[in-house]
Amino acid sequence: MKKIGILTSGGDSPGMNAAVVSVARTAAMYGIQLMGIKRGYNGLLGLSDDPEDDITLLDLETVLDIADQRGTFLRTARCEEFKKPEVQREAFQNLRKIDVDALVVIGGDGSFQGALRLSELGMPCICIPGTIDNDLGYTESTLGYDTAVNVCVDAVRSVRATSRSHDRPAVVQVMGRNAGDIAMRTAIATGAEMVVVPEMEWDVDEVADRLNSLIAAGNTRATLVIGEHCWHKMKEFDWRKFLNENGKKVYEGEPITAERLASILKRKCGGVEVRATVIGYTQRGAIPTAYDSAFAFEAGNMAVRLLNRGMINQAVGVRHGRVFSMPIADALNMQKHFDKELYELVNKL
Ligand code: F6P
Repeated sequence: MKKIGILTSGGDSPGMNAAVVSVARTAAMYGIQLMGIKRGYNGLLGLSDDPEDDITLLDLETVLDIADQRGTFLRTARCEEFKKPEVQREAFQNLRKIDVDALVVIGGDGSFQGALRLSELGMPCICIPGTIDNDLGYTESTLGYDTAVNVCVDAVRSVRATSRSHDRPAVVQVMGRNAGDIAMRTAIATGAEMVVVPEMEWDVDEVADRLNSLIAAGNTRATLVIGEHCWHKMKEFDWRKFLNENGKKVYEGEPITAERLASILKRKCGGVEVRATVIGYTQRGAIPTAYDSAFAFEAGNMAVRLLNRGMINQAVGVRHGRVFSMPIADALNMQKHFDKELYELVNKL
């Protein structure tokens, strides 16, 4: 290995920069040159808004101070085009043209798929899981997940303080795409009384019943944490009709939101003021926690050591608290486990 490339792809996640620094430091130790490819796979294809700046030499001096910076220094993007085989071949050729011997990809499931395709074309790849969603089955944690949870826990604690002050229940929406990990962990860590996630079917009436019984028992400021894509698993309920009939104008085709759910609960729970908070990009743009920074350090280091040993096409992850690697193809095939018992516990304690 004389020259390797590195890119971040998909949604940015705290810890991506720290992983880049670790790759750069380890590459420097082995005398390997590192090329930074900007804006994910777009940067390999000249598809970004700024192709001039898409591929740059990453020397230690350039990256040494970025480890605890927010966002991703390399920029990032989602690249739909990359699903096309001819585009993958073009990217492969472009890497060859600049004499890149291997590529480190930091991202989530879609980014791993892209790396797998490049590896099948003959470009050695190493993947580092970088997504706040924690939705990759082969690893206990992904870079950014711990930080996102900490941001959410902090936010929910603040919301709960105001809920307590005003005797108002709260709905708090967190990110995570189709994985309820951020929602679950946040709910458990904050003592939230209810949680709904995209993995489990749920019923608005059951949530309202639970809230009503909490209120009847004297808890007038309960928290419902919801995973952003929980709506896919909401049992059929004509919520637009319900709200329209109960004094809240809703337009045809309007999507359900946390705000709307709060309005529904208010009307199903004796008019109690239920307020909604959506925690958005603060989860992605946060400074990485010590856990994510340390994981980034180990993962970046392992990525380059694997390449140096000729162990290619590996995905780096964490198992039983230790950093390990396995083939990208196998990692992508591993099913994610959802802890149903814990979910039920939160909703009944
Ligand atoms: O994958 C990270 C994530 O923040 C998801 O939790 C969320 O569904 C999605 O990205 C939002 O994507 P965008 O960057 O398009 O807002």
